[in-house]
Amino acid sequence: MATATGRVAPAPETAAARAFPPGFTWGTATAAYQIEGAAALDGRTPSIWDTYARTPGKVRNGDTGDIATDHYHRWREDVAIMADLGVSAYRFSLAWPRVQPTGRGPSLQKGLDFYRRLTDELLDRNIQPLATLYHWDLPQELEDAGGWPERATADRFAEYAGLAAEALGDRVRTWTTLNEPWCSAFLGYASGVHAPGRTDPVAALRAAHHLNLGHGKAVQALRSALPSDALVAITLNVHHVRPLTGNAQDADAARRIDALANRVFTGPLLHGEYPADLLRDTARLTDWSFVRDGDTEVIRQPLDFLGVNYYTPTVVSAATGDAGHNSDGHGKSAHSPWPGADNVAFHLPPGDTTAMGWAVDPSGLYDLLLRLGRDFPDLPLMITENGAAFDDYVSPEGEVRDPDRIAYMRGHLTAVHRAIEAGVDVRGYFLWSLLDNFEWGYGYSKRFGAVYVDYPTGKRIPKASAHWYSKVARTGTLDG
Ligand code: FCB
Repeated sequence: MATATGRVAPAPETAAARAFPPGFTWGTATAAYQIEGAAALDGRTPSIWDTYARTPGKVRNGDTGDIATDHYHRWREDVAIMADLGVSAYRFSLAWPRVQPTGRGPSLQKGLDFYRRLTDELLDRNIQPLATLYHWDLPQELEDAGGWPERATADRFAEYAGLAAEALGDRVRTWTTLNEPWCSAFLGYASGVHAPGRTDPVAALRAAHHLNLGHGKAVQALRSALPSDALVAITLNVHHVRPLTGNAQDADAARRIDALANRVFTGPLLHGEYPADLLRDTARLTDWSFVRDGDTEVIRQPLDFLGVNYYTPTVVSAATGDAGHNSDGHGKSAHSPWPGADNVAFHLPPGDTTAMGWAVDPSGLYDLLLRLGRDFPDLPLMITENGAAFDDYVSPEGEVRDPDRIAYMRGHLTAVHRAIEAGVDVRGYFLWSLLDNFEWGYGYSKRFGAVYVDYPTGKRIPKASAHWYSKVARTGTLDG
């Protein structure tokens, strides 16, 4: 990425407009299962999301990613849309079951060819590809062998990372290993609202460790296969956790959630150890003996930047009884995604909400970026996802007017700009998402796209927000 050559200097501020630093990356983001479709084509095998979506009652309306936005066939059109928007980068994910169908052994040429064609087209159009290796589509065969709670899955992931890097390293310079391992571990294995839908808190903690380990091993595999100027990172949905009040009990609830949401990853990834308070909080569930000598050294690999996904803050208080884990914005389940953190209530901050029911709160992003800048001063940050779902529809004139999304983006980009002004090293911003798509447990009922997708026909209609974002990306400036 143009931004990778060094720390970008904060741009001078003017009263009316906010100019981002030269070289700031403007991108859009997607993920394979959410857009590709072609679930059984060219040798792709089922992932845990195919299995989960086909399980009655798991995904709203029984939706699946079988067809999704049909990006597997419409990729050229989608790249053309991005070129029209004038974005400088595109974050997408490789479907592991398309590249290495059983999760072990050789790669599949047809799967790799799809990503070769896609990335060639992106580069032809001057759009820098950022490839995510894992956006939640574990090959089902690996789940059948135990999934992320099993250590062997970390080795499988590193092998796949090496294959991907060898095949695409000549054209993809920027890589992230995992997308939001918190969701994979805790929604996948504790609350069960994501694939594979297990509800075993200890399995979730084991999964978190093996995702961390898989990341570390994958970074090693990437570095040995990629040119030395490649950029390697991980994307976390770092939660901005706020206590509801200043009292000590609420502060402790925030500490416990912060440990399970954030520090279970940033601890080993960036400091080389699991936080002592996390081990203590979860001691009645596990002694963490699945962490072997040397693991945390493997996990702590030098990173070129940290990918940050932010949508809304997490407001918590201490509670009596089993209060509130259903209202934490991560889907409804009788099982908590927070192992060992009982008696925590989650609160919706006042103000507007999106169609997901998530609070619109750009100050959370500002505070989060400042905290990350303070905690990890030498680590550049990249916003790898930010965006909002609203109930968009096509007007009789054939337009999609989405002022709420524009307001959301304006607010959050202002927060990013303020953070840069305050000295935080933020290198870029990827809007979630390029297209309306399969929103996991919510199926197609939630529209996050800058581009509207008419699912019956596949037709794409850039929304008003796409035109707005295009202007920001082209000028690098946010109007006052
Ligand atoms: C993130 C996911 C992304 C999308 C957005 C709304 O947690 O990474 O795939 O679903 O939320």
